Amino acid sequence: SVVSAEGMKRAAARAALATVTHGMRLGLGTGSTAAHFVDLLGARVKEGLSVVCVPTSERTRAQAESLGLTLSTLDETPQLDLAIDGADEFDASLRLIKGGGGALLREKIVAAASERMFVIADATKEVKTLGAFPLPVEIDRFGARATFLHIERAARGLGLIGPLTLRETAPGEPFVTDGGHYTVDCAFGAIDDPDALATRLSAIPGVVDHGLFIGLATAIIVGVSDGVRIIGD
Ligand code: A5P
Repeated sequence: SVVSAEGMKRAAARAALATVTHGMRLGLGTGSTAAHFVDLLGARVKEGLSVVCVPTSERTRAQAESLGLTLSTLDETPQLDLAIDGADEFDASLRLIKGGGGALLREKIVAAASERMFVIADATKEVKTLGAFPLPVEIDRFGARATFLHIERAARGLGLIGPLTLRETAPGEPFVTDGGHYTVDCAFGAIDDPDALATRLSAIPGVVDHGLFIGLATAIIVGVSDGVRIIGD
């Protein structure tokens, strides 16, 4: 049967929702797949399910608010049971590239605060080697140009050549994250050693965080043409 990417995203979101139980503290991801989950969650809450939600972006907060979900912050609720989020790419070892939607820092903080993280994605996001999707790196605005060059040098040390681009909303207007930072999109191609790259990027002073999510996802729910496939537990 022919199932659209939207259909696969929704199937993954529905399967994730089936694991949510009464009283859970949830992290809500960002992006079109996470939006399907929030939408379905809203319907369940109207039927009586009670959960507390921490959103990973202002965009998701607005959606959750409009559906009447009970919202909290990590300051009020620093430990969550489950984060549900999308991804731009994933591999068979549960490693992810995230941040295409511009929310990677809050997504990573929320994932790290959660006992479990379920990624929901359509099958087109699965790769053998991460890196076909340009890796987003969130950087402080102070010294952005110097940090950009530092990222370039650090990557080159691993044999990774760009191009790197400062994300813009219009020519000359850098995209600004919810946290007030810039984003550099790094089109490295195949990243053979994501762990080494993650370590190098994190060591650069102006790097706030990067889109490599390693050791955070506990399962990936992949929407496929005839339902879902689970990677992990
Ligand atoms: C947001 O910053 C990203 O990490 C998203 O999770 C990612 O872009 C996935 O979005 P879609 O579900 O729209 O593909």
